[in-house]
Amino acid sequence: MSILVTGGAGFIGSNFILDWFTQSDEPLVNLDKLTYAGNPANLAGLEGNPAHTFAHGDIGDRDLVRQLLEKHAPRAIVHFAAESHVDRSIHGPAEFIRTNVVGSFRLIEETRAWWQKLPQENRDAFRFLHVSTDEVYGSLGPRDPAFSEASPYAPNSPYAASKAASDHLVRAWHHTYGLPAIITNCSNNYGPYQFPEKLIPLMILNALAGRPLPVYGDGANVRDWLHVQDHCAAIREVLARGRPGETYNIGGNGEKTNYEVVRAVCALLDEARPHRKSPHAELIAFVKDRPGHDRRYAIDATKISRELGWKPAETFESGLRKTVAWYLDNPEWVAHVTSGAYRKWIELNYVNRES
Ligand code: NAD
Ligand code: TYD
Repeated sequence: MSILVTGGAGFIGSNFILDWFTQSDEPLVNLDKLTYAGNPANLAGLEGNPAHTFAHGDIGDRDLVRQLLEKHAPRAIVHFAAESHVDRSIHGPAEFIRTNVVGSFRLIEETRAWWQKLPQENRDAFRFLHVSTDEVYGSLGPRDPAFSEASPYAPNSPYAASKAASDHLVRAWHHTYGLPAIITNCSNNYGPYQFPEKLIPLMILNALAGRPLPVYGDGANVRDWLHVQDHCAAIREVLARGRPGETYNIGGNGEKTNYEVVRAVCALLDEARPHRKSPHAELIAFVKDRPGHDRRYAIDATKISRELGWKPAETFESGLRKTVAWYLDNPEWVAHVTSGAYRKWIELNYVNRES
């Protein structure tokens, strides 16, 4: 028995793999292209573990996917690999279509062809778990009920549209071919190993360096925040007991405005670095808004809680405290990822944003 994970060198994938081996010795194959977001250092703790196989490559490489399926005969695929950053999708959507739509299509199509030749018992037991986002549902007003699995799709950014497209492919492959696929739609994650282009790690690192903390627009956009280890625990439950053909929303009951999030990061850094002359919150700078910026996301996670008994273990406060501590304790990881290419991205995204 083994499982195949795609995108396992990224933020959520690497947390998933590290957690996997604390709970299981079942072999795991990790197919990752190592884009700017993929970092083998995230998995350094697994060096010498023969149960972890790293395969460097693209989910859109059909020959490679076929070879991996034939060689390892996984009982399940957990599909994390994607271009995942909304701001990058605004600057350059093509890569999002290439990986998230075309790459996902090739992956599920190769999976279908291989799966259809399996003995009946293995076909029934197989699972394709597609890891997706709450952003496919679009934006909520302040008093709207949270997104449920029945909410209509209304993606607003190129990233969200590309994820919505891949969700539709997975749904259709289940409906038409019977592929035992499950989709999870999760809210914003935070935690160790998150690339510092995303809000929380960017704010931690900028604040530590005394750089401005760029809050888009009025800072009142709301996101639901979930600690990455809670997301990984939910994925393990869905893999073990989720029903094929179903969708499960995953969220943290942690709605916060961006301004609240940044203030909370600053307060934790004031505690950890009491010798700074002025409070970190003085670095907050309101900058030009992201085009098409969704106002509010919120997740109703009743279904996964009722059917699978999953609930988040961390509150936003406990999870953020651990996350800030992790970034403070891992300066080498930070130095490694904030290389030249990273600085170019920061320049591209934040130039002309001062408002
Ligand atoms: P990430 O950007 O940190 O990592 C993506 C990984 O995929 C990287 O290791 C990258 O090298 C790899 N990859 C990219 N293109 C590839 C390709 N063509 N072939 C093989 N590997 C490729 O992303 P993340 O934040 O870990 O997100 C993982 C998944 O979870 C994504 O599908 C994302 O849409 C979804 N998701 C993320 C969040 C979040 O808050 N980060 C929330 C909900 C859902
Ligand atoms: P992000 O981490 O990019 O996730 P997403 O857009 O997928 O929700 O951003 C989270 C929120 O923080 C989002 O509303 C945009 C906002 N944001 C800022 O205000 N400043 C920043 O520098 C970044 C990166 C994000």
